[in-house]
Amino acid sequence: MDRSVIVVVSDRPDRSKALVDAVGSVAECRVVGLDETWDRIGAFRGVIADITLGRPEARSCLRRLASRPGRTRTPLICLTRSDSQSVFTEARNLGATMCLSAHAEPRMVVGSLVREVWPEKTVADLVVTREVKRTGAVMTSLLKSAQTGPVDMPALERGIEPVLDAIHEGGLTRWLDEVWTHDDVTFQHCLLVSGVAAAFAQSLQLSKADCQLLTRAALVHDVGKSRIPLNILNKPGRLDDDERAVMQTHAPLGHEILKASGSCDPVTLAVTRHHHEMLDGSGYPDRLSAAAIGDPVRLLTICDIYSALIERRPYKAPMPTRDALAILSGMNGRLEGGLVQAFARAVQDTP
Ligand SMILES: [Fe+2]
Ligand SMILES: [Fe+2]
Repeated sequence: MDRSVIVVVSDRPDRSKALVDAVGSVAECRVVGLDETWDRIGAFRGVIADITLGRPEARSCLRRLASRPGRTRTPLICLTRSDSQSVFTEARNLGATMCLSAHAEPRMVVGSLVREVWPEKTVADLVVTREVKRTGAVMTSLLKSAQTGPVDMPALERGIEPVLDAIHEGGLTRWLDEVWTHDDVTFQHCLLVSGVAAAFAQSLQLSKADCQLLTRAALVHDVGKSRIPLNILNKPGRLDDDERAVMQTHAPLGHEILKASGSCDPVTLAVTRHHHEMLDGSGYPDRLSAAAIGDPVRLLTICDIYSALIERRPYKAPMPTRDALAILSGMNGRLEGGLVQAFARAVQDTP
C-alpha cells in the first residue's frame, strides 16, 4: 500500500496537466473524474479538486469522498474558479480543508499540499525522496540484469533526470541523506556518485547535455561490480592481494557489459573502464597516464574517490567532508589539482 498517493479529481484533465506534473514531483499522483466512487481507489494521503463546484456531479463526487466508510479527515484542497464567499463556504461544507484559486501556480498549490499533508517535510525533501526512488528503481533492475547479461541502456535514461532535478531542487546533502537509508553497497555507491557528479557538473555550469552525460556515466561506472563475488564485494576491512586483483576486474568487466548492451556512448564506456586510472600511471586496469585520460574520466574519478571516502558502512565511521577533501588535495599528481579545487568548492557550496 503506497501511503504517498495524492488524488487529483478533475473535470478538465487536459488543463490539469501542469498541476498533475507538479504533484508528481512530490508524490504518486492519480487523476480521477467526477464519476469516481472512491471505494476501489485504495489508500491516498490527500485530494486536490480541480472542479467547478457549481456542477451537481462535482458536489456529489465530493460528498461521496466525505462519506467514505472509516474515513479519517483527508486533506482536501479545492481549486475554486470563483472567489465569491459562497463558493468558499460551499467548498468547506463539502469537506475542503483549504481553498485556493484555480489560477494559482501549480508549484504554489504543491507547496500548500505539502504543508497540509506532510507538515514536517518540505517540498525539497519530498522531491529528493521521490527522485531517489525513481533512479533507485532503474538501478536495481539494471544491476540485477548486469549479473548475468547485458543491461537495458534506454531504460537507464529514466534514471538520469531525477538525479539532476533532485540535486537542483534539494541540494546534495538531502540526496546523500536519502541515499544513505539504502543499504545495498553497490546500489548506494552508484546513487552517491551520481549525486556528487551531478552537483559537480551543475556547479561547473556545464551544458545540460554534459550534466546528463556525467550523471549517466556515474550511475553505471561500477556496473562491473555486479559480477564480483559478494564475499569480496562486501568484505569489511582491507582486501588481500588476490581479492584486490578480483575486485579490480570490475572496471574492464563493466566496460564489457556496457559494450555488449549496445547504444552506450563513448564517454560512459571510457569512464566505466578508466575511473581507477591515475594521472601518474599508477592506476588500473590499463595504467594510463595523464595524456590518455580525458576530462570526463578525471572528473568522475574525483567524484568516485570522494564518494567512497564519505560512504557509510556498519563497520566504519563516516568521514567528514573536510577530511575527505584533504585526502583528495593530497593526491596531487594523481588527480588534477585544479579540478580537485573546483570540486571542493562545489561540495562546500552545495546545500
Ligand atoms: Fe570502481
Ligand atoms: Fe565507484
